Amino acid sequence: MADEKAILTFEGKQIELPVIRGTEGDVAVDISRLYNENKIMTYDPSLASTAVCKSTITYIDGDKGILRYRGIPIEQFVTERPNFIEVAHLLLTGHLPNKEEGVSFRQRLTDNELLHENIRYHFRNMPTAAPPMAQLSASLNNLACFHREFLVLDNDDDFMEVSARLISKIRTIAAFIYRRSQGLPYNYPNPNLRYCANFLHMMFSLPFAQYEVSQEIEDALNLVLILHADHEQNCSAATVRTVASSRANLFASCAAGICALWGPLHGGANVEVMEMLDGIYRGGLTPEECIRMAKDRENRFRLFGFGHRVYKNYDPRAKILRAACDKVFEKMKNRQNDPELNIARRLEELALADPYFIERKLYPNVDFYSGLLLRAMGIPTNMFTVMFAMGRLPGWIAQWKEQHDLSGGRIIRPRQVYMGPNETDYVPFEGRD
Ligand code: CMC
Repeated sequence: MADEKAILTFEGKQIELPVIRGTEGDVAVDISRLYNENKIMTYDPSLASTAVCKSTITYIDGDKGILRYRGIPIEQFVTERPNFIEVAHLLLTGHLPNKEEGVSFRQRLTDNELLHENIRYHFRNMPTAAPPMAQLSASLNNLACFHREFLVLDNDDDFMEVSARLISKIRTIAAFIYRRSQGLPYNYPNPNLRYCANFLHMMFSLPFAQYEVSQEIEDALNLVLILHADHEQNCSAATVRTVASSRANLFASCAAGICALWGPLHGGANVEVMEMLDGIYRGGLTPEECIRMAKDRENRFRLFGFGHRVYKNYDPRAKILRAACDKVFEKMKNRQNDPELNIARRLEELALADPYFIERKLYPNVDFYSGLLLRAMGIPTNMFTVMFAMGRLPGWIAQWKEQHDLSGGRIIRPRQVYMGPNETDYVPFEGRD
């Protein structure tokens, strides 16, 4: 609707504000000129009602539990079984790669899977027990030192090249972080393997025994990465865009995204979920106690892997991962009747029947079942959030590009309502109480 307006009435004055409607019916009142023209701010501390951009990448309908990448429902990535690289291309460019584009993108990934040998020294100087997310973020920033020709991007070919470098190298970096933590020699990437199989090889092959990648595990990893690939304006994507808005380079912006993802309310929740399940399994806690603690306002404990800012329905990614756990565990002889999967199901059953969770519309999110799958692949808990970052990287890059390409894009710079002391005089040291 052309020239649709909302009216804000304040202090006897009527202010007309333009209305924006999204292609799926989202409605937003454009207040971007409100302060400059009227000296009025809006207050929304956790941005729960604020759209910070127009985006064409990912669509979520939180009430219906819908998630689409570039218009494609997430469920179709399960039935059609594309690989993670095709989905990355989709997010970066807006379309699935045709044959030629697919070959070219894959070749770029293969050509860039090695790390500069000097990056090994960067790892060597970190304690072996350093948190993997700290190492990952530092390593991504470090890549800027080795790929300086991409600090300023002004054409699409360079963008695809640097995107391929990042998506390829984050996999090598993640495997190196794990190998170091175990005191194991690094495995160089194998250009004959596909993205996920190559990662599993770098993680688990031994000098005397090549890791045999089973199809189920490769498929499960591919699925996990696809399901994490983008999620519109979450905390880390918003961080990437904020950093990008200062015209910071792609490496720095994605490194900042990794730091935001690390937190337990965001990507770090997958670690918390597994620690909770382990705690229950070892007998320190019962599922009933977890639910009681999560409901207690005096207790900082939360039911990790539950709840979402946007989803007020079952997170569609959790639904897919739950089914994938059932399928993978069924096929793995030593995982049938897995006690921790049973505990997770019990927690879900208790929560979904509890008025606290029902009233607040709290359902399992992506982190509730992902850790169980990752553990079945042999990935240790402290690497879970690194896996999330590997999956999310194409989304961050796509978000960075959208922000970077905004014509006349302004730096993201929120305002505040100052509540501190009024003007007061400096007191020299001798005069202080
Ligand atoms: N356990 C207990 N209570 C909860 C939980 C939970 N997991 N999540 C939300 N609540 C409560 C919350 O305290 C609030 O209660 P009240 O109305 O009495 O104040 C109510 O439910 C509504 O919360 P909300 O406004 O929907 O939550 P939010 O948007 O501020 O936070 C969240 C969203 C994901 C940070 C939160 O649900 C949470 O902390 N969940 C656990 C951590 C987690 O699993 N994070 C992963 C999110 S999905 C993947 C990702 O983003 O990385």
